[in-house]
Amino acid sequence: MTSNSTTELDHLLSRALTDIAAADDSAAVEQLRVALLGRQGAVTTQLKQIGAQPPEARKEFGAAVNRVRDQLTDALSARADAVLAAERQAAIAAEEIDVTLPGRVGHSGSLHPVTRTLRRIEQIFTRAGFDVAHGPEIEDDFHNFEALNIPKNHPARAMHDTFYVSDETVLRTHTSPVQIRYLESHTPPVAVIAPGRVYRCDSDVTHTPMFHQVEGLMVDSNVSFADLKGALVFFLEEFFERDLPVRFRPSFFPFTEPSAEVDMGCVFCEGKGCRICGHSGWIEVLGCGMVHTEVFRQVGIDNEEFTGYAFGLGIERLAMLRYGVDDLRLFFENEISFLRQFS
Ligand code: DAH
Repeated sequence: MTSNSTTELDHLLSRALTDIAAADDSAAVEQLRVALLGRQGAVTTQLKQIGAQPPEARKEFGAAVNRVRDQLTDALSARADAVLAAERQAAIAAEEIDVTLPGRVGHSGSLHPVTRTLRRIEQIFTRAGFDVAHGPEIEDDFHNFEALNIPKNHPARAMHDTFYVSDETVLRTHTSPVQIRYLESHTPPVAVIAPGRVYRCDSDVTHTPMFHQVEGLMVDSNVSFADLKGALVFFLEEFFERDLPVRFRPSFFPFTEPSAEVDMGCVFCEGKGCRICGHSGWIEVLGCGMVHTEVFRQVGIDNEEFTGYAFGLGIERLAMLRYGVDDLRLFFENEISFLRQFS
């Protein structure tokens, strides 16, 4: 073996080892493998030179080339493993999820306080056996007024601040017309509540042109004012979850006789007297009475056989009392920071 070819092999080996050490990705390692050990590779070319050596040098040269080939094969495969491991590590690092980061909390909506209050009212009455009925918001004069014993030119019409759609059609000013519709389609005994939107042409701190009421109606053969009192006291205790004093004050509604307004001990000052209750210690919460015989006559119910009670309450009003809200307008402004408090 000539010292020339040995030096050449040494150079080849040391250059190749340097290149392999510098190859920093799988593609570069593969490229080197082809350049060294491939069919046209530098080491393969040396292998082909074995036969060209003088006979006495062939064995030694052959052994030297094979050693170089084996060494480079090992170096390439070690480098390929190392580079692949590094690449995997980098891929994992790039995809890493920090499971210790605090989660992002999704913002879920919440029910509007008026809806919450309405559902609460419905729950209490349906538990007590009442049906839930609905009527149209665009109502005719007959159901909104006439059948409720409020004939044309009756002074009670002036109290209603009615939005007229036409001479004979209105935006209902209360949920009482659902009493009439329900009695037109059901025969007593009936026990029903009718929640919904009502409209009045009125707007100030305590009035909005649209608000919500719940109507109540119970008709049977022996319904008395005592039943009405019992039902409403039960409702108020369930609704407010406390034992507040309740009083029935004589009042007037055309569709009930006798009629009463119901006051409750002020939830804000516990009856001591404050701005909200006008320093009286009492807050008016609803109107009620025994169904007027004229109402029964209008829907063809025999008032010798049946009696009934009715009541009407404002949902916003009850929501204000339950949640301690002192401005009605907050319910209609869609102020998100206000509404979030009810989630
Ligand atoms: N409809 C009345 C209003 O809007 C409320 C009301 C009072 C309803 C007495 C009734 C009742 O059923 O008996 O002011």
